[in-house]
Amino acid sequence: MCGIVGYSGLRPAVPVLLNGLKRLEYRGYDSAGVALQVDGGLVVEKREGKVASLAKALGGIEGSSGIEASTCGIAHTRWATHGPPTRANAHPHVSSRRLALVHNGIVENHAALRGKLRAAGYEFVSETDTEVLVHLVDSNYAGNLLEAVTEALHDVEGTYGIACVAADEPGVLVVARRGSPIVIGLGEEETVVASDAAAIIKHTRQAVYLDDNDVARIEGGEVEIRSLDAMPVTRAAAEIDWSDDAAEKGGYEHYMLKEIFEQPEAIRNTIRGRMDADRGNAILSGLNLAPRELAEIRRLLIVGCGTSMNAGLVGEYAVEDFAGIPGEVEQAADFRYRNPIVGSRDLVLAISQSGETADTLAAVREAKDKGALVAGLVNVVGSTIARETGRGIYLHAGPEISVASTKAFTSQVSVLLMIALKFARGHRMSRERGMEFVREIEALPGLVERVLARNDEIAAIAGRFVEFEHSFFIGRGYLYPVALEGALKLKEISYIHAEGYHAAELKHGPIALLEKRVPVVALLNDGPGKDKTLGNVAECQARSSPVLGIVTEGDEEARRAVDGCIEVPPAPLHTAVVPATVALQLFAYHVARLRGCAIDQPRNLAKSVTVE
Ligand code: M6R
Repeated sequence: MCGIVGYSGLRPAVPVLLNGLKRLEYRGYDSAGVALQVDGGLVVEKREGKVASLAKALGGIEGSSGIEASTCGIAHTRWATHGPPTRANAHPHVSSRRLALVHNGIVENHAALRGKLRAAGYEFVSETDTEVLVHLVDSNYAGNLLEAVTEALHDVEGTYGIACVAADEPGVLVVARRGSPIVIGLGEEETVVASDAAAIIKHTRQAVYLDDNDVARIEGGEVEIRSLDAMPVTRAAAEIDWSDDAAEKGGYEHYMLKEIFEQPEAIRNTIRGRMDADRGNAILSGLNLAPRELAEIRRLLIVGCGTSMNAGLVGEYAVEDFAGIPGEVEQAADFRYRNPIVGSRDLVLAISQSGETADTLAAVREAKDKGALVAGLVNVVGSTIARETGRGIYLHAGPEISVASTKAFTSQVSVLLMIALKFARGHRMSRERGMEFVREIEALPGLVERVLARNDEIAAIAGRFVEFEHSFFIGRGYLYPVALEGALKLKEISYIHAEGYHAAELKHGPIALLEKRVPVVALLNDGPGKDKTLGNVAECQARSSPVLGIVTEGDEEARRAVDGCIEVPPAPLHTAVVPATVALQLFAYHVARLRGCAIDQPRNLAKSVTVE
């Protein structure tokens, strides 16, 4: 959730740290801080609010008086868990003014540790769980930070990604991870560490990803990794394949708009090299399943959260529809607590853009313990879920910076359709139907382009919805997950209360809320189920709710039935999911923009939810 950056090298640390924090601000943005080694001491500066306030306090990114000479430091941008977003609770936290530490994750036994440290004479100035860590390290410190951190972490229960510095060890950073990522970017006589590669790619593409229970000492370009048992550990460097430009706004007002418009290209990248047009099949070598193994799989069990879970529902429908094997989607958070029935003939597919979502990761571990085949459907290369599943499919959608997920969803659906095709061809689908299915998937980027061409029309329609405070999104079949996703997008960035419902479910309760101030967005793409949803639209209008329809181009019947509409290109419903969702992403974006919302950094949210 929060973002960590650290630097050790020959250059001034402040610009590297502040630029890194800007890149990580999407992970959390309620307060920010730095700790810099200066003249044998530490300078710590913290501010409530965004990184810009911290940068101002430091004298701006380009010239920060008094601290320009520092070549080693750590920095943090916070998403509050323990204690409100105040300056006192912001990281870094310090002990004896000689040690400073930043932390992502949650120290579960912080209360017990706090009691012991208080008894030992330590005073606490914040409400955070993190402050116990820095005092704990301090209580083990005898001039060697690596040893003190290693010793301290033996007493910690919970999750952490940490970076710390000591005033008495110039140029030395110590980082460690358990459950919260740390990436070490390797440069020439310098090292940039971060919780996310986005903060590193400006400086280097060579990165080492720490595993759980790794502790690393960094000094300039030297990196030493050890286990918590103090045994030397070797971790191979990997190439970060995202360009620096990909993590910039590129002339768009918001990352979200940029990422919405990137979708045709993102989907092309997702499907590139994975379609076998002649055999009417998908090539998914990352799944690492021979045709016989594939044929033996009896169920596809999908776990994920938020947008990734909504995409999973499309996968569930498609795999049942085309492959004839049961599909099931499970909210990842519940998976390990409700003792699910999972076995060796189940393929558990963990879907996660970030590859770091704590609940999804926990589900992966539970499924592995239960002997299932586990694969990841992940965007961030080298992320924890990608590594722990060991098999899977990368989205290749490029960095998604906006907290509201957009291009990840459409790339996830594209892969899920490929998985459905792969399973279907391993069962009953003919080569001819497979070839047609390949063409349907390959048509997705073009379908999205046609929706994007309607951006201005969608912005105009959005203008009619800015005043509402409550809304419903309805759909059925493949369009039900679209209703869920459309509602999620609207609520998270515009703060309009939006509920996604199955169209048929409305009359089982929610219809009580309908009236002229509660609009309904209805997914009315032409295809099976449309007539039934038109019936539900009439029920809404009979209660005075204005209805916005997502309708197929040229469908006069659907157009006439609604009070306003966004047209989307014709497509079979399993692929119509993608353009319909893009229309709702743009709709949510424009409503939020007209309401003056902080689109890329909605209140209370953070990208990559690494706490349970
Ligand atoms: O990185 P993940 O795909 O695992 O993230 C899952 C959810 O946290 C994420 O989709 C969240 O719901 C987004 N804010 C939705 O826009």
